[in-house]
Amino acid sequence: MPRKANLATRVVHAGNGPDGPSGTLVPPLQMSVVYSHGNSRAYSYGRDHNENWERLEGALADLEEGQGALIFGSGMAAISAVLESCGSGAKVVAAQDSYIGTRELLSHLTAGGRCSAELVDATDLAAVRRACQGAALLLIESLGNPLLTVPDIERCAEIAHQAGAVIVVDNTFTTPLLVQPLRLGADVVVHSLSKHIGGHSDLMLGAVITNISDLLPKLRYHRSNSGAIPGQLETWLALRGMRTLDVRLRRQTESAAFLAARLGESPAVTRIHYPGLADHPQHAVALRQMTRGFGAMLAVELDCDADTAERVCGSTRIWTNATSLGSVESLLERRARWAGEEHVPDNLLRLSVGVEDAHDLLQDLTQAIALALPAGAV
Ligand SMILES: Cc1ncc(COP(=O)(O)O)c(C=O)c1O
Repeated sequence: MPRKANLATRVVHAGNGPDGPSGTLVPPLQMSVVYSHGNSRAYSYGRDHNENWERLEGALADLEEGQGALIFGSGMAAISAVLESCGSGAKVVAAQDSYIGTRELLSHLTAGGRCSAELVDATDLAAVRRACQGAALLLIESLGNPLLTVPDIERCAEIAHQAGAVIVVDNTFTTPLLVQPLRLGADVVVHSLSKHIGGHSDLMLGAVITNISDLLPKLRYHRSNSGAIPGQLETWLALRGMRTLDVRLRRQTESAAFLAARLGESPAVTRIHYPGLADHPQHAVALRQMTRGFGAMLAVELDCDADTAERVCGSTRIWTNATSLGSVESLLERRARWAGEEHVPDNLLRLSVGVEDAHDLLQDLTQAIALALPAGAV
């Protein structure tokens, strides 16, 4: 697929290609892990390489516009491989509102003496500059979790590079369709493909895409020898899911913007966090950085306590009270229910907007709020 085609076209075709004499349009699911010696692709054993992985990796490298990509068994396996690639004792700076699993992994690595970690407000560039002194790696997310903060990736990349650090951006919340961190100066992009790219809550995979050519062989070595490899079926499903990424994300993004506007009219809602709203603290950065929409995630604060907010989550009929994001089904949860998210307001619900009808989603949330909150508050 030529680079000049629009991303909406590339998601449909990237990683496809004529499949030999049979001419199948859909790439075959290749299950073999054993190859006869002397084959034309020089494949030897399934833990090292196979055609399913290479198709998905080629597609991800194309969409993120990186030199190459490697997939892993989960988003955490991808992040862990990148952290592992830093030398022993390296200083890692990470956004303070990174995914809980990432923060958990960093404290585990720190406790074991593998690295030292400093958490920073990635929207505060002076703080990022201070923290990056002596750092080997800066790890930020394209949208913070769960308040949907928007770090300025271009400026963070400049700061990291001036300090001699590599900058890694977790692009799970936005995908290359909304943000392309490598084009903004990042060195490495990581993904949980279990979210928007898979898109159907039925697979776990992760990916690393980079422009640092000598990082790829290191990560490949780690993947082969740590043995934490992606499954063949999941890989095939992820490429299949990617085909509809643009149409899904367009609908989800439109619905999220609609919900952000309409929920703001409810007296039961005290605050909405959505980068597309003019009163979002980093709206100006979002306008510059997110050229195709502001994403499918929003967070709402309700005029109630934690128990009542939990009751709202339990009273919806279309939204599922569950932890994840980016899928066709809409999900919500009270984020402060998790250890590690104590700083998140008790009354805050994180919403991952699916592809259902936006008016149905609004109506369902409104009835759940009316059921749970005392009359008069709604
Ligand atoms: C931003 C982000 N990065 C990474 C991960 C980890 O991905 P996985 O669950 O595929 O390991 C998650 C999981 O929710 C996430 O939200």
